[in-house]
Amino acid sequence: MDNRIHIKTPDQIEAMRVAGQQAASVLRMIREHVKVGVTTAELDRICHEFIVDELGAVPAPLNYRGFPKSICTSLNHVVCHGIPGDRKLKSGDILNIDITVIQDGWHGDTSKMFYVGEPSVKARRVCEVAHRALLTGIEMVRPGVTLGDIGHAIQTYAEGERCSVVREYCGHGIGRGFHEAPQVLHYGRPGEGVVLEPGMTFTIEPMVNLGKRHTRLLPDEWTVITRDRSLSAQWEHTMAVTDDGVDVLTRLPDDEL
Ligand code: MF3
Ligand code: CO
Ligand code: CO
Repeated sequence: MDNRIHIKTPDQIEAMRVAGQQAASVLRMIREHVKVGVTTAELDRICHEFIVDELGAVPAPLNYRGFPKSICTSLNHVVCHGIPGDRKLKSGDILNIDITVIQDGWHGDTSKMFYVGEPSVKARRVCEVAHRALLTGIEMVRPGVTLGDIGHAIQTYAEGERCSVVREYCGHGIGRGFHEAPQVLHYGRPGEGVVLEPGMTFTIEPMVNLGKRHTRLLPDEWTVITRDRSLSAQWEHTMAVTDDGVDVLTRLPDDEL
């Protein structure tokens, strides 16, 4: 394991922006395909073809530590790392699609929630809280802030909304590697942990549950679910620390914050 944090040069960050914008473009492309009756395997196939044929990129999940597909699809009480399969989407489902591409050796990693048909009040709530939790983290990012400050802000926000934050999975450094140092926890204590410096690149990707925070790993050894089967939501961006703040590499120009 390489525990050093790789500080990126401005040119390297520009290369990561290309990968990041490409990953974001996959989420935009797939939007219109997320509808009642489609299977998550079909979504995987469409994304795979777009990434390879249109973007000339590599889908990072495929064969990553044995992961069998090109994207992760996490439905309802699935927290993360759901494997696309023959489950058809139903009205009322909430679905996280997590896209990681490799372009020119650099990774871009982003995910968001999609509603299938009309979401329940609870479903909408957990998706919105997870989104706000990500934004709360991003707004903290600048040199001198610690990862503990960021985790604490995310946790305080989400728990204040009577939701819980998953502990077993976290954000991560990213660059030439998919998962680099440091680990970016979505909980923590102010002032603790790594101090942010310009040129650090990492993801923030809080997993927020409507019920308790505890998770269970299914026998497929990938799919993570909430132990209490409550709904779970996650949003993710890849970002770089700048001299005075943050540069979100996976945010498209005309995207909401
Ligand atoms: N994209 C996920 C993340 O945000 C990791 C997926 S690993 C995989 O870190 F193997 F499941 F693809
Ligand atoms: Co990630
Ligand atoms: Co991801």
